Amino acid sequence: MSVIGTNYLGATHAAGMAEFGHHVIGVDIDSARVKTLNAGQSHIFEVGLEPMLERHTSTGRLRFTTDYTQIADWADVHFLALGTPSGSGGKTDLSQLHAAVDTLAPLLTKPALIVGKSTVPVGTAVALEQRIRRLAPAGDEIEVAWNPEFLREAYAVEDTMRPDRLVFGTHSAHALRVLEEIYAIPLTDRTPVVRCDLATAELIKASANAFLATKISFINAMAQMCQAAGGDVTLLADAIGYDKRIGRDFLNAGLGFGGGCLPKDIAALAVRADELGVHVLSDLIHSVEAINEGQRTELAELAIAQAGGDVHGKRVAVLGAAFKPGTDDTRNSPALTVADRLHAAGADVRIYDPQARLPPREGFTQVASVEQAAHRADITLHLTEWPEFRQIDPVALGELVRHKVIIDGRLKLHAPSWTDAGWKLVQIGRAGTL
Ligand code: UGA
Repeated sequence: MSVIGTNYLGATHAAGMAEFGHHVIGVDIDSARVKTLNAGQSHIFEVGLEPMLERHTSTGRLRFTTDYTQIADWADVHFLALGTPSGSGGKTDLSQLHAAVDTLAPLLTKPALIVGKSTVPVGTAVALEQRIRRLAPAGDEIEVAWNPEFLREAYAVEDTMRPDRLVFGTHSAHALRVLEEIYAIPLTDRTPVVRCDLATAELIKASANAFLATKISFINAMAQMCQAAGGDVTLLADAIGYDKRIGRDFLNAGLGFGGGCLPKDIAALAVRADELGVHVLSDLIHSVEAINEGQRTELAELAIAQAGGDVHGKRVAVLGAAFKPGTDDTRNSPALTVADRLHAAGADVRIYDPQARLPPREGFTQVASVEQAAHRADITLHLTEWPEFRQIDPVALGELVRHKVIIDGRLKLHAPSWTDAGWKLVQIGRAGTL
């Protein structure tokens, strides 16, 4: 089989398929990335990925290429794992998917199953199938199925090898059988499977991300209520989370969601809902987005207020740049939005992240340790909850800063340790900390 596109999703899927015993060729237009992957190395930080790449590239079970002619005759199944970024107005930009199928299709001279994994607006799979059939010499013998991916960055390998569920969107018994053979190992492990049509498969993925985003914005709205009324949102989340119908996951209040998926996927769902006249859904999503955006604004304003109303010329230590811990990904990172706003307000921002490497950007100094970030800081911001930040000794850090004021944007620091060490600790939604 082939896997077209080798970023987070494609590289992990290709390695996972090899681990399931398949022979896999990964395809990408980026020749530097292909070279890295062929050497058994990962171009992204993802726990457990590199050992799998090493293991399977060394036996030849897994290879990578930039050349579509190598896969066209060789593979019966082609997975599409390309990026589907936001285009204008939040509408999904399908150009990577289109470019890939436009290159592959004219080379397809025998029957093949094209399996989409990317997150796409409902209706894309059917349109892609028509597009491929028009271009492929094998015509109607080419079929499209949709098998959305639910992996989380930082847990990509675990989620690929032991998924919560599999979704097989197909419109023929043959396509379904092929997918069942490919996933024989997780199916033997009793992984739940939903067998459905193409539209349902596309919508399942979009709604999973929309529901997760809604959960986060709900708890952040409740954090605002706790703030206004003097309650504690962490205890509230624990208590409602014990209800099995609600569950505690994705009820961590703080800076809200970012990354390459949730923000763009919900924006795309809202656009598609409007196109189809389902305005109740787009209204809901716009509220979720507004709450999420509000968290970033509120944190930046809080930092300015805590720094005496003006951060101009003040030193701000920012702990965390990745959009969440466990990854080096900074796409749509809440931490960077806050850092950017404080820089725009005139602050001297020093930022430390254990994994994320920022391209040089004006106004930011990326430093190599918490201590360097905190040196003579007027205010310290904890914006991505890396476990190592919970190990910080507040007494020792207190010696380095100019003012012992810290805003915990992720509500993960142990408040008494900081206050006992003489710090002013601010956590939105936790009573008594403002
Ligand atoms: C998300 C989904 O969780 C995956 O299931 C999905 O496959 C993936 O998008 C995708 O569509 O490819 P990911 O983007 O890796 O995965 O990140 P999440 O773990 O969902 O976190 C998203 C954001 O929400 C992060 O910024 C995180 O800090 C934030 N978050 C998460 C909260 O603010 N509170 C929480 O309780 C949980």
